[in-house]
Amino acid sequence: MLSLDGLIGEFDRALRAIAGVAEAARRSPAEGVADAELSADERDHAAALMRVNHVGEVCAQALYQGQAFTARDSQARATLERASREEQDHLAWSAERIRELGGRPSFLNPLWYAGSLAIGAFAGALGDRWNLAFLAETERQVEEHLQGHLGRLPEADARTRAIVAGMQVEEAAHRANAIALGAAELPPAVKAAMRGLAGVMTRVAYRV
Ligand SMILES: [Fe+2]
Ligand SMILES: [Fe+2]
Repeated sequence: MLSLDGLIGEFDRALRAIAGVAEAARRSPAEGVADAELSADERDHAAALMRVNHVGEVCAQALYQGQAFTARDSQARATLERASREEQDHLAWSAERIRELGGRPSFLNPLWYAGSLAIGAFAGALGDRWNLAFLAETERQVEEHLQGHLGRLPEADARTRAIVAGMQVEEAAHRANAIALGAAELPPAVKAAMRGLAGVMTRVAYRV
């Protein structure tokens, strides 16, 4: 059970995630990478792509929080908490890069967060195997999605690319964790539904 202190801590984390003021515990992969000369259009495009990724990380916060509430196995919980701390770094790195590019985080962050928390809690209620299955599939889709962004980001934008590539490596490790902890395989229809939902989210977040 969560204590009152624990609940307040989680709530604080939620607010930080939504507001885009999370702090990273580790250095950004962009550290030491020189900023390129980008045109105004390129900067806007890169900022919009990073807004999409930031939304993804806001959702990751909610998903991992939902899982931490419901995970029954203590080893599973410890692994999820470690991944969750890495997701906090991703959140902070992408927020920082959005600011550098002169963009802003999504207005709809509270909505993305609430939706993901609900989905995470629902998956958690089905038990650890399904909880982890959902997590593994989410990480797999995020990893693919980040690969897509590496194809779409301006070639010269080495700082943004370093962050995206750094996150991608860790999302792959998160997926492997979830599988190692005994994730079930989701039915194809559920995977397709998740893909559909993620597609709507990325299109909306690119704009707002
Ligand atoms: Fe992440
Ligand atoms: Fe992840």
